[in-house]
Amino acid sequence: MSKNIIVIGSCNTDMVIKADRLPVPGETIIGGSFMMNPGGKGANQAVAAARLKGNVHFIAKTGNDLFGKRSIEQYEDEGIHVENIYSDPTLPSGVALIMVDMNGENSIAIASGANGSLSPEDIRKAQPTIEKGDILLMQLEIPIETVEYAAQIASEQGIKVILNPAPARALSNKLLQNLYMIIPNETEAEILSGVKVTDWESARKAADIISAKGVDIVVITLGSKGALIKEKDTFHEVPVPKVKAVDTTAAGDTFCGALCVALSEDVDVLDAVKFANKCASITVTRMGAQPSLPYRKEIDVL
Ligand code: RIB
Ligand code: NA
Repeated sequence: MSKNIIVIGSCNTDMVIKADRLPVPGETIIGGSFMMNPGGKGANQAVAAARLKGNVHFIAKTGNDLFGKRSIEQYEDEGIHVENIYSDPTLPSGVALIMVDMNGENSIAIASGANGSLSPEDIRKAQPTIEKGDILLMQLEIPIETVEYAAQIASEQGIKVILNPAPARALSNKLLQNLYMIIPNETEAEILSGVKVTDWESARKAADIISAKGVDIVVITLGSKGALIKEKDTFHEVPVPKVKAVDTTAAGDTFCGALCVALSEDVDVLDAVKFANKCASITVTRMGAQPSLPYRKEIDVL
């Protein structure tokens, strides 16, 4: 029986416009194309893990509306356990407005809606599910007190707590000490360490500072360069396959979901990161968040 991956996090509906470039304030850009897709960092990571054959339970909150209902149906179709997706009676489901430019770079504005009311109380309701977990994966599109509470109860149970600290913000030492692994990108690593991360060297410095705060394993993602691992006193620089970027949205989410799947199959951290890099590089070549997430059969042939 494969291990249980618990994902706690956001679900959004993404409204995406791909245009030649991103507009500046006050500017209107015409001629783009539109897509509406399921997204949200929590949901993207849950779906990524499920498509890669992880056994996934997703704990989240939607509005009592069409977007929320559709999202839950989609997660079920992906084979995700959805018993702990709660519904807020008044707030709408989360929505993200995303602009993507010619080079695949994006800029995102989020109306959190019901994601913002996923509370420690909801986590208490989901505790029996969490306690069945081997790995707990979270991000920061839900209230920080909810993330802190879940990390606390899960680490007390010996569950490996993995945090993708996105979007970037400062974190308490208490939360960091409850983590088995943290997966920041360059910006997030800078906020957590005070070191501007631009290359392998600065990533090592940032990883040293973050791990000294009590996180066992630090994995810093460096976009098209790859990922740096710091585990105990050992560093690994893991380059990523070169691809032509169409839309980088959900590349980080794919990386996190994939890494958890590999760890759930008892793969060591270095090989898990190599697997996660391959998966994320596929996501970058396709439009949209969840539509771009790869399936296990695509990776196995690489
Ligand atoms: O990481 C990508 C995701 O961030 C998008 O799907 C969007 O919903 C935002 O949450
Ligand atoms: Na993508």
